[in-house]
Amino acid sequence: MAVDPQEFRGVMGHFATGVTVITTHDGNGQLFGLTANAVSSVSLSPPLLLCCVDKKAESYAAFGASKIFAVNILSNEQEVLSRKFSKSGGDKFEGVGYRAGKGGAPVLNGVLAHLECEVRYDFDAGDHTIYVGEPIDMAMDQETDPLLYFRGGYRNLRA
Ligand SMILES: Cc1cc2nc3c(=O)[nH]c(=O)nc-3n(C[C@H](O)[C@H](O)[C@H](O)COP(=O)(O)O)c2cc1C
Repeated sequence: MAVDPQEFRGVMGHFATGVTVITTHDGNGQLFGLTANAVSSVSLSPPLLLCCVDKKAESYAAFGASKIFAVNILSNEQEVLSRKFSKSGGDKFEGVGYRAGKGGAPVLNGVLAHLECEVRYDFDAGDHTIYVGEPIDMAMDQETDPLLYFRGGYRNLRA
């Protein structure tokens, strides 16, 4: 291996990002979600975005089953949600306000914006799969500030 994976994580941590919760379902009514910052816009024509999902995540199989996911972009008031969805196990949606999107993926209350997508491509990439999705529904929901992630910690625009 050319570089140390932990050092790689530390170096990439210098790339400040927003924070999302990516939600999906398994086609049988069970909901899944995980905190993710490996998210990017890909194409405008057609509109495409990508997210990278760890093959070891409990949510992983559901992405392949439903081929639907929603990217929920968190506000600076939603750090608790980010922490909740970054731990495996239990019913993550208990006590969380949400509604089912067009394709059945949960759209969380209070997010800055959301995009619900159908998977168009998936790529095997090391210990993750890259899902490229085309939005079937989206909205800018709130005008508040974003939750940020930088050097392994939560930040906001004013701190
Ligand atoms: C700020 C932050 C960003 C993360 N980004 C990703 C990501 O892009 N992809 C991913 O698979 N996991 C990411 N994780 C880790 C998952 O949230 C974590 O593994 C989670 O427990 C997976 O949930 P699950 O096992 O219930 O599916 C991130 C965690 C944090 C705190």
